[in-house]
Formats: sequence, structure tokens, C-alpha cells
Amino acid sequence: MKKVKIALLGLGNVGRGVWMILNSNKEEIMKRSGYEVEVAKILVRDISKPRGVEVPLGLLTTDFNDIINDDEIKIIVEVMGGIEPAREYMIAAMDKKKHIVTANKMLLATGGDELFEKADKEGVMFNYEASVAGGIPIINGINESLTANKVERLYGIVNGTTNYILTKMAFDGLDFNDALKEAQEMGYAEADPTSDIEGFDSQYKLAILSSLAFGTKIKIEDVYREGITKIESVDIQYAKEFKKVIKLLAIVKDNDGRLELRVHPTMIPENHPLANVYDSFNAVLIKGNAVGDLMFYGRGAGDLPTGSAVVSDVVSILRSNIEIENLNPVVKNNLWVKEISDISEIDSKYYMRLTVADRPGVLGEISSVVGENNVSLRSVIQKGLDVENENKVTIVLVTHMTKEGNIKSAIEELYKLDAVYKINNFIRMEDFN
Ligand code: NAP
Ligand code: HSE
Repeated sequence: MKKVKIALLGLGNVGRGVWMILNSNKEEIMKRSGYEVEVAKILVRDISKPRGVEVPLGLLTTDFNDIINDDEIKIIVEVMGGIEPAREYMIAAMDKKKHIVTANKMLLATGGDELFEKADKEGVMFNYEASVAGGIPIINGINESLTANKVERLYGIVNGTTNYILTKMAFDGLDFNDALKEAQEMGYAEADPTSDIEGFDSQYKLAILSSLAFGTKIKIEDVYREGITKIESVDIQYAKEFKKVIKLLAIVKDNDGRLELRVHPTMIPENHPLANVYDSFNAVLIKGNAVGDLMFYGRGAGDLPTGSAVVSDVVSILRSNIEIENLNPVVKNNLWVKEISDISEIDSKYYMRLTVADRPGVLGEISSVVGENNVSLRSVIQKGLDVENENKVTIVLVTHMTKEGNIKSAIEELYKLDAVYKINNFIRMEDFN
């Protein structure tokens, strides 16, 4: 049996999962890859930190030179996260003809081109399955199994932390902060969970998936982004009344060559398969012009599910025969140029929750303003009095399909009405038609 040495950069949630899988599934990995994989070094910041797994102390180092200068180390597994020094370390490793596996979606989405070009130039492999949707083989699915298709649409729940929070708020009555704390304890959240809850993490992932699915360069700023921090329990309750659930959806649609790319909370029908994706599970629904609808489902975060994708990437490098120079592995994202739509151009239905004055004629005033902005209302529901102020009342509006630009102008005009105190929330609705 041939032996190969690898190094891990990071031994946090994902690094721990990688370590556990390499140890518990040694035989599977050996038989499938043809190699016995030895972890020769692990880079961390603090050697004395408890790790939750037993790792021989001699393997841990705080000095990247111990790894980069060891010519026997053939593969670098970057699971430390962040931009620097992760970028610098991967470039240095490729200079030394070491192959790379990474889970770093932030770096891939914001500076991936430099890394892909470097991998191409050095003829090393650069694998990143774990960067999107944890254990789900979505990158390989798109890169390998869907190449006969024109992708028309993609909808994804690609962030485990926010899906966990929304599930706990909807079904267990947890408040936002308690649910986030649980997600952090489970190892789902990013080191700075702002990335999860404000939708940045999903934005990175949608940029990566869309670049691959459409063979085009998607810049991070091409993807419209909103997080879930404005979602209140009352919105979840109203959604239930409409037989909907709220999910943080990543959406891309190809409208005759123009792409709309967006991440935001979305009300979707409660009987749609994506509505039944709970906890830290992720799912990606892709519509290809040949295959039709295809759905990928699995754990989107956590040590073992993410470790599964990382270790599979290592195995795939070993199977490609690391002794061969110039493997040239990088999938091209410059095959087509696509126009990107502004968010104001999208068509959607909308849910709006307003606090307004409780007096006669208010509903009429609101309906007129909305109509003048070419928005047609599907329903207007007056909810109970505001418990803290009996002169205020909650109104919930649901629109027919309309341009987002029209809704935004309607909102501006509504704020000019004396009777409208606040537009508490505004959530897009998706029917998947
Ligand atoms: P984490 O728990 O914060 O672990 C990061 C690890 O990297 C720690 O061991 C840390 O060392 C080490 N590290 C960070 N900066 C370092 C530096 N400058 N020098 C040396 N070591 C450094 O993060 P994680 O959750 O495992 O995530 C790692 C990566 O995987 C991120 O890119 C993340 O986005 C991605 N990812 C995470 C998940 C998930 O479910 N968590 C899923 C998919 C992808 P110390 O332990 O000594 O502090
Ligand atoms: N923080 C990420 C999530 C980790 O919650 O989905 C997986 O990429």
C-alpha cells in the first residue's frame, strides 16, 4: 500500500470532522484511494486548546513553515477559514506543487479566480466540495453530472445555521438569539455568525454555484443579499396562516440570458419539498433543460458532514494519481458572459406587514397608493389591535406578481401617509412556477 502525507490547516469544527473520518474510515479510504493517508502536521493558533478529539501533540504546530517546507506533504487541507492567511498559505502550497482541498467559500467567492488560475498554472488539483452545502455533493453534481444541461433555475437552502434558527423559531417557539446560540454550540455557525444570519454565507455559496452552473464569472456584488435578522415570530405565524413557511433561499434564474441572483427570506408553499428541509439540513433544487427538476438534500453544516466532503476531495486527488504532473483540474467559469439583472427588475409576489392608524378609511388609502404604483393586491387582512397602543392596528398585504421596483415605489409612497406608522416587514414569496 502506498502512503501519502497530508497536512490540515485548522482543527476546529471541520478539521475535527476530517480527523475523525480519516481515523474511523481508514480502511474505506485506503481501499478506495489506493493510499494510506497520514496526517503529518496540523496548523492551529493555540496548541494548548482542548480539541474534543485525541490528536498526538507532536502533530500540532503554529508555524506554517513546518508544513510548507516538508516536501513529503503532498496535499494541504485548508479548514481554517477567513481570507488571510488562508489565501497566502494556499498560494505558497501550490508554488510547491502541493494539491489543495478547501472548505472556504468566503475566499472562493471573493478571490477564487486567483486560486483557480494558480492551480491551473502549477498543474495541481484544487477541490472545494465542502464549500457549499456541507456534505451534499453539489459541486461535483454540477461539474460532472449536469454538463449535458442548460441550467434554467436553481433554488437552494444553503446555510445550515439560518435554517436551524428558522426551524427552531417555527416549531419550538425559540427566540432568535437562543436558536443562534444552539447552532453555534452544534458547530454549524461561522466564527463570526454575522456571515450566516445576514446572508453573506449564502451569498458566497450562490456565487460559487452559479459560476459553475452557468459557466460564467459571478461577482459577489452580482448577488442581491438579505439575511434573516428582520424575521419575527409574528411573520412566521402569518406565513402559517397562508400555508407558507419562511426559508432563507438562494435563487438564480436565467431569464433569456439575463441572470437574477438573490438571497433573501422567502415565503414558500408549505407542501413544497424545500419547505420540508429542517434544522441544519440543506437542499438545492436545480432545473436543467434536459433533466428537469433535480433535488440534492443532506446535512449542510457540522463536523462529520462537512468532513465527509473534505475527505472525499482528498480521495479524488489520490485517485487522479498525484504522481502525474499537470493535472489541470479547474472547471472553467469563463465559458459565457451573462448579463445580471438588478433586484428592481425581478418579478415576485410580496407579503407586507404594516402598523397603521386604527381609523376609518385607512385601508382605502393604502389600497389606492399601492394601486397607483401598479401593484395589484391579492389580499388585505386587518389583524388585531396593537397590544401596546389601541390606536394602532396591524395590516398584512399580499400582492399578485409584480416588479420589485413597483413595490419599492409603493413603499416610499406609503411612508408619506399619516396613517402608516411603520412597514414592519416585507418578504418575497415564491411559487416555483
Ligand atoms: P473554526 O471552528 O473556527 O476552526 C478554525 C480552525 O482554524 C481552528 O482550529 C483555528 O485554530 C485555526 N486557525 C484559524 N486561523 C488560523 C491562523 N491564522 N493560524 C493558524 N490556525 C488558524 O472553523 P470551522 O467551523 O471549522 O470552519 C473552517 C472553514 O470551513 C471555514 O472556511 C468555514 O467557512 C468552512 N466550513 C465550515 C462548516 C461548518 O459546518 N462549520 C461547513 C462548511 C464549510 P485554533 O483552534 O487554535 O483557534
Ligand atoms: N456556517 C455554515 C452554515 C457552515 O451554517 O451553513 C456550512 O457552510
